[in-house]
Amino acid sequence: MCGIVGYVGKKKALPIVLNGLKFLEYRGYDSAGVAYLLDNKVNITKEVGRISSLEKLIDLDTPSYMAIGHTRWATHGEPSVSNSHPHQVGRFTVVHNGIIENYLEIKEDLKKKGVKFLSTTDTEVIPALLDYYYKEEKDILKTIKKVLEKLEGSFALGIICDDDKENIYAVRRGSPLIIALSNDGMFIASDVPAILNYTNKYILLEKDEIAKINNNSYQVFDFNLKDIKKEINTFEGSCDDAMLNGYPHYMLKEIHEEEKVFLDTFNYYVNNDSFKETMPDFKKYKNIHIVACGSAYYVGCIAKSLLEEYAMIPTCVEVASEYRYKKNFYNQDTLVIVISQSGETADSLEALRKAKKDGIDTLAIVNVVLSSIAREAKYTLYVKAGPEIAVATTKAFLAQTTLMALLTVKLSRKYELLKEFKGLERKIKELLSKDYLEYAKAIYKCNDTFFIGRLIDYALCLEGSLKLKETSYINSVAFQAGELKHGTISLITKGTPVIGICTNKDIVSKTISNLKEVKARGAYIIYITNEECHDDFYDQLILLPKAHNLVMPILSVIPLQLISYEVAKLRNCDIDKPRNLAKSVTVE
Ligand code: M6R
Repeated sequence: MCGIVGYVGKKKALPIVLNGLKFLEYRGYDSAGVAYLLDNKVNITKEVGRISSLEKLIDLDTPSYMAIGHTRWATHGEPSVSNSHPHQVGRFTVVHNGIIENYLEIKEDLKKKGVKFLSTTDTEVIPALLDYYYKEEKDILKTIKKVLEKLEGSFALGIICDDDKENIYAVRRGSPLIIALSNDGMFIASDVPAILNYTNKYILLEKDEIAKINNNSYQVFDFNLKDIKKEINTFEGSCDDAMLNGYPHYMLKEIHEEEKVFLDTFNYYVNNDSFKETMPDFKKYKNIHIVACGSAYYVGCIAKSLLEEYAMIPTCVEVASEYRYKKNFYNQDTLVIVISQSGETADSLEALRKAKKDGIDTLAIVNVVLSSIAREAKYTLYVKAGPEIAVATTKAFLAQTTLMALLTVKLSRKYELLKEFKGLERKIKELLSKDYLEYAKAIYKCNDTFFIGRLIDYALCLEGSLKLKETSYINSVAFQAGELKHGTISLITKGTPVIGICTNKDIVSKTISNLKEVKARGAYIIYITNEECHDDFYDQLILLPKAHNLVMPILSVIPLQLISYEVAKLRNCDIDKPRNLAKSVTVE
């Protein structure tokens, strides 16, 4: 959470930093701020709300050539001007992404030494410590090293010091941070899209590395302040991938990219009905643990059904924030699969690290290239979703589901199943071209909704329910269809929307019975199925195209995503940036 951008160079810094922050708003958007050098003085402007609110307070023509900026997702202290970054104490001004776990003891200690604090954040102790130790060390790099020794937690920092009018300093421990290089200047940023308007050359900082950038050069130091050589990466995508391109919202744009995302992911791993070398052989593993958070966890639930059904591999799915603290029964036959769009989700990353530490092999299923999870896993398989900006994941979910279905085929050795993916893009397109407004109209005024389904359809219910809650703020519960009558059915009253999903003809009559039970109690039923249905228990029907059960979830998720989008729109919600959320959850 939180996004950092910094620039020092030949161009005016404020437009560059603000533009970069807009691309990082997905990381947090409750307040924002910039610090910039003007007439040899560091000036700070901060505001509650979006970057657009901050922009109104800033003259973009300001002749400043060095600036750092921040977009915040509050962890310690409410969103307010005083809690917004940058934070300044004495000579040091800092922007921070992450959490300082021992900030209370540091704060108490510094207070005793006479330091005054203006915010309730954990961050403010960082400039305070820097300023305090700088008086002893009188050298910025040595001071940063000393402060790193004191800090506990996960963080990325951008730092400027009144005594150095040429350089921006940056540090990474845990939270992601890159430096980017152009002929007109150097950048720091939490993520690549922030700099793509200016350059595609960047360097990833690793744990406890310190960078120093000025208008035409950079240096990276290790923890012992030894100058180190770093590999320069080139980002292959284009800035356009992260633009709205005429769509009213990123969520809608990203859903409409699903046909391409499916094909790109499929074609990356398969050619002429055979797997390419991009798909390794995992035959030695006898059981699988899938670990993830949120929607990625629900992809894991889908994958468990597929892996057990077709590959006969016992699979357990665990929420990463639990997995990292519980006793796990794994051994050399276990493959731990971590699914993550961003590749930076703190709990998923720590779960991966725990498995690695225990000597267990790990596989990352990730969208963001060179993200931490992608780099730290033993094996990495990328999904080809491209940049996903909307906080609610859609195309990455579809791409992850596609890849897990492909992995199932690989592990099952039933390669003839690959033909079931053929032509699926046309069915995706067919679903994307339908209008979902009438379904949304049946839902948008209600306070509660239910999603029910059995087996793999239950996993889709979980995702449909999360999507609706997240984007439209309607309370929603997903239930195994047969389980409702054991208590939860008491919540069904006249008009309660129940979305029933059934894509498996072997159990269709069972799910229909459960839908009739709620219909008898007044529920308004939206029935999603791929089987012709001549019964009249439902109020609205979504007929999915026919497809093999292995690939059905790739299709059934699309109406769920588009209904959520339409409901959120009818409710005038902030679709791409729902309240209280951030796209990349880099704190515990
Ligand atoms: O980047 P990740 O896939 O690791 O993110 C996991 C969850 O935070 C994410 O899927 C979240 O639940 C989405 N906002 C749901 O739309």
